[in-house]
Amino acid sequence: MIVPSMCAGHPQPMNQAISNEPTANESPSSEPPSNEPISSESISNEPVVRLEQVRFAYGEREILRGVDFAVHRGQLVAIMGGSGSGKTTLLRLIGGQLHANAGKVTVAGQDLGALSTSALYALRRRMGMLFQFGALFTDMSVFDNVAFPLREHTDLPFELIRDLVLMKLHAVGLRGAAALMPSELSGGMARRVALARAVALDPLLVLYDEPFAGLDPISLGVTGQLIRQLNDALGAASIMVTHDVRVSLELVDYVYFVSDGVIVARGTPEEIRASDDPFVHQFVHAEAHGPVPFHYPAPPLASLLDEVAA
Ligand SMILES: Nc1ncnc2c1ncn2[C@@H]1O[C@H](COP(=O)(O)OP(=O)(O)O)[C@@H](O)[C@H]1O
Ligand SMILES: [Mg+2]
Repeated sequence: MIVPSMCAGHPQPMNQAISNEPTANESPSSEPPSNEPISSESISNEPVVRLEQVRFAYGEREILRGVDFAVHRGQLVAIMGGSGSGKTTLLRLIGGQLHANAGKVTVAGQDLGALSTSALYALRRRMGMLFQFGALFTDMSVFDNVAFPLREHTDLPFELIRDLVLMKLHAVGLRGAAALMPSELSGGMARRVALARAVALDPLLVLYDEPFAGLDPISLGVTGQLIRQLNDALGAASIMVTHDVRVSLELVDYVYFVSDGVIVARGTPEEIRASDDPFVHQFVHAEAHGPVPFHYPAPPLASLLDEVAA
């Protein structure tokens, strides 16, 4: 499915951009033959992140049932889907905090399933993460929060760490707030400090889990712009899980919709806006009724009422 020569801007061929089919059912015939010589072009087009038929279960409960996707350098990609659809799980598989039960997760060309703990740790240093409700260390200043990953993962001298921290804070407009404590920040400022901390090590890949949660509309817009700018300035790849369709469609290069353990739809913002796929339509237009179920899976109500009556 993922053909390197077609992937400069989009992870999928355009004519298959919106798909109702679980990717598990897609024909693998468009994969390049494995014995094909690797050209320098296909090396540079190697995705930063690639998931191939990834399956994952918490115990008996299967959450992901064959997920395929790819994110390339320079791309900002959104993952959307209902609550509990497995979006955070997906990010944790990419971050190497969880391991796929089947299929393959590749980051920067390395198969996460085949890495030693130390190799995984080294790879994680190249990933920035802003996890859901990812809070700042409350007993550390803004400066020390952003310096934390640099002190933890490098032996850089104090002067260099200071300059790097101030550059990151400058990038998010908060150089002047370096000496403040988290309790002195607004919610929007705190989120921007968290962004600066996530990119402190100039990551190749940045993962954001609901970076807009709890923000007012202005802070939300600022945070979205910053995520885009930081990605482009770093020449990184970024994946953000979000419910904010409007902001996402303005900012991102590509959107994946997850439901029931598979990617049910995908496309560029233009394709998503124009889509008549019922799932995409329900999301984009925030409709209460549609393919996204209201009820958590349960036995039929009649059987429950019988039990109560008995
Ligand atoms: N550590 C865990 N153990 C068992 N089940 C979990 C765990 N974490 C999440 N789940 C379940 O897996 C499903 C997917 O969770 P998650 O990936 O957090 O969804 P999302 O981020 O899309 O809301 C949910 O039903 C959730 O209850
Ligand atoms: Mg989540």
